[in-house]
Amino acid sequence: MKKSSIVIAGGGSTFTPGIILMLLENLDRYPLRSIKFYDNDAERQKVIAEACEIIVKEKDPSIEFLQTTDPETAFTDVDIVMAHIRVGKYKMRELDEKIPLKYGVVGQETCGPGGIAYGMRSIQGVLELVDYMEKYSPNAWLLNYSNPAAIVAEATRRLRPNSKLINICDMPISIENNFVEILGFKKHSDIITRYYGLNHFGWWTDIRDQDGNDLMPKLREYVSKNGYLVQTDLEEKKQHSDESWNATYKKAADVQALDPDTLPNTYLKYYFFPDYVVEHTDPNYTRANQVIDTREKEVFSACREIVEKQTAEGTYMEVDEHASYIVDLAVGLTFNTYERMLLIVENNGIISNFDPTAMVEVPCLVSSNGPEPLAIGTIPTMQKGLMEQQVAVEKLVVDAWEEKSYQKLWQAMALSRTVPSVSVAKQILDDLYEVNKEYWPELV
Ligand code: NAD
Ligand code: G6P
Ligand code: MN
Repeated sequence: MKKSSIVIAGGGSTFTPGIILMLLENLDRYPLRSIKFYDNDAERQKVIAEACEIIVKEKDPSIEFLQTTDPETAFTDVDIVMAHIRVGKYKMRELDEKIPLKYGVVGQETCGPGGIAYGMRSIQGVLELVDYMEKYSPNAWLLNYSNPAAIVAEATRRLRPNSKLINICDMPISIENNFVEILGFKKHSDIITRYYGLNHFGWWTDIRDQDGNDLMPKLREYVSKNGYLVQTDLEEKKQHSDESWNATYKKAADVQALDPDTLPNTYLKYYFFPDYVVEHTDPNYTRANQVIDTREKEVFSACREIVEKQTAEGTYMEVDEHASYIVDLAVGLTFNTYERMLLIVENNGIISNFDPTAMVEVPCLVSSNGPEPLAIGTIPTMQKGLMEQQVAVEKLVVDAWEEKSYQKLWQAMALSRTVPSVSVAKQILDDLYEVNKEYWPELV
């Protein structure tokens, strides 16, 4: 079996150790010869990398391990780039969330003005990774889950049209794991789903077991009462199960009510209930603060402990079980498995009554040729209308970035369903521009 060489871009991410543990659990189906970490913040990456090196060596000393901030070292001789960078880090996420809230508007990592501001920062960072990969390992694939995935996907579609890059999100997979639990099945592959939409903006239309039985009626009934909340032991399933995520999962009951024939992505909450979301958010202590005080603290202190003891034994580290979708994708590309996965791809007729140039999230078969999307056909008026408005926001952000256009960025902000008026859009934009000078192109 071929042994792969990977680089994790954003080595200092809070999600890196969970992914490393998950990769090490899957070596039988995805053998590795080399793991490299790349980040532009050496100090942050060092803490995570030194611990991960110990974890890797304890599991399989034959795997080469290296951490670097040098692109040539990082991107030379790799088969797969796994990218999860956060340009501006939590300091900027906090501002993305708090500035809109000052004006009574949703403050969220990927939705509304915060997501737009983050998009304006991420485009350059992700394009750089694509270029490094193409320069030093032109046959490699880049699996990107750096956010906001929708905007990054539109930017790479336009600006790097021939690159071997796939954008992916863990939200639908995570929700599908709850479907499995609600329905009393054991594993993700026990169900087969149909889903379409934009990233963080989509709907399930069909869910069946392996025998073809329709499971939608049972799920719809459950979701109308409980949303996607399940009774899992919190210790067992950590991501998407803290208080804040539980509230989002529960709210899916109300989100579903608008179109009970389908099951919605949890992120639609921000577009359908912006007033409710703002009312239930502390403008002085947002999700960024929660993450800094919990996940970031826990991950960094566990890593420091491993380095201090020079062993991972006895230190509790979470395996990111649900991140195994990354391995599924890498395996599909490497071993031509035709695994069925939800990926973000150019529409190009998949949804027949929707912009062919939109980046949509739909089921695809994954082979060494990349993703081969399955047809969706026509979608209903409500979803079409919502998606057209949202995709226009995403496209305007990329226009603004390319043309350095203040006007286009204002239009993007004004068009977001989360923003009540053109004047509020302008105030939020001006505040966000002020704090993002270091990261955005200079606007004219
Ligand atoms: P984090 O801040 O802990 O980690 C991000 C790392 O990226 C940091 O170490 C930072 O120094 C590094 N970085 C920033 N800009 C860089 C650049 N230009 N080049 C190289 N490295 C750079 O963030 P996190 O909370 O662990 O999240 C990481 C990313 O993964 C975010 O973009 C987040 O939104 C995304 N994410 C996506 C999904 C999905 O569904 N697609 C799921 C989870 C997380
Ligand atoms: C889900 C989404 C990601 C997002 C993450 C935020 O996994 O799919 O795109 O980055 O949630 O989670 P956090 O715990 O950082 O708020
Ligand atoms: Mn996502």
